[in-house]
Amino acid sequence: MIFMQLLGEVTGGAAGPVLKWAGGKRQMLRQFSPLFPKQLPAVYHEPFLGSGAVFFCLKPGASYLTDSSEELINFYMVLKSSVEDLILDLDKHVHTKAYYYRIRSEDPRTLTSVERASRFLYLNKCGYNGLWRVNRAGRNNVPYGSYKNPNYRNFAALRKAGMALHSAVLQRDDFEITLEQALPEDFIYCDPPYHPLSETASFRSYTAGSFTLSDQQRLAGMFHELDKRGCLVMASNSDTPFIRKIYAGYNITTVRGRRAINCRGTGRSPVNELVIRNYGRPVESRI
Ligand SMILES: C[S@@+](CC[C@H](N)C(=O)[O-])C[C@H]1O[C@@H](n2cnc3c(N)ncnc32)[C@H](O)[C@@H]1O
Repeated sequence: MIFMQLLGEVTGGAAGPVLKWAGGKRQMLRQFSPLFPKQLPAVYHEPFLGSGAVFFCLKPGASYLTDSSEELINFYMVLKSSVEDLILDLDKHVHTKAYYYRIRSEDPRTLTSVERASRFLYLNKCGYNGLWRVNRAGRNNVPYGSYKNPNYRNFAALRKAGMALHSAVLQRDDFEITLEQALPEDFIYCDPPYHPLSETASFRSYTAGSFTLSDQQRLAGMFHELDKRGCLVMASNSDTPFIRKIYAGYNITTVRGRRAINCRGTGRSPVNELVIRNYGRPVESRI
């Protein structure tokens, strides 16, 4: 069932991610497919939504989708409720360096939600490496990307993604707050900013704050709490002694990932990542 959905994603027939996002899981779906619950529970939660690669792959019935990025959640809210207005607004953008920097310098809080979503998509597609990254003040600081044909006018993909969001509840919040709503038997997939492999290797600036060691511990505590509550929980993270320690006792599977994008846009060599689950066979898989 999940494999068929995955096939739909790969062949382009179904809704899929419309954003490029650091740490996006699109490339990981084939490895994840056997790790999802065999029978997908009725309610799904994804508290670190990003590009929503897993959400679009699973196509759950009811879902709670959360991220701490205000611009990201506004974008999905507009995609869900006003996709045609968004498409109209996208028409005004032009693909030049000067225009990019002018739009980037705008304060999103002075815009309507549709204009804000349109600006967000334009910057995501035209910025260097297709990234969304903000400084401590929460302002986008990604340089111009110089792409020939940045794809911010893929209207069919936007419409399909908007439809897929119809039964989703979207929230801008911290993961801990939104996960309070999870009930026994719900399925939760957690994909936080990864614990860095080294002090200099991290890319964690999706939002103005960074994801600290104590946030990782808070998440592991939440994982434990959800386990006790009777939820099915799956989480991704980097393969470090710290992550193995805070999730000790759960099913840990090693998968092959790609290193996070660094400031030079390089550093994408393969690297092991962990998938931690509180269900399924207790095996340490070999890759
Ligand atoms: C690794 S990315 C998720 C990628 C996503 N799975 C995908 O396929 O694109 C991590 C996400 O967590 C969000 N985030 C960071 N801190 C958060 C927090 N405290 N609560 C909720 N979301 C947070 C970031 O904005 C980012 O979108």
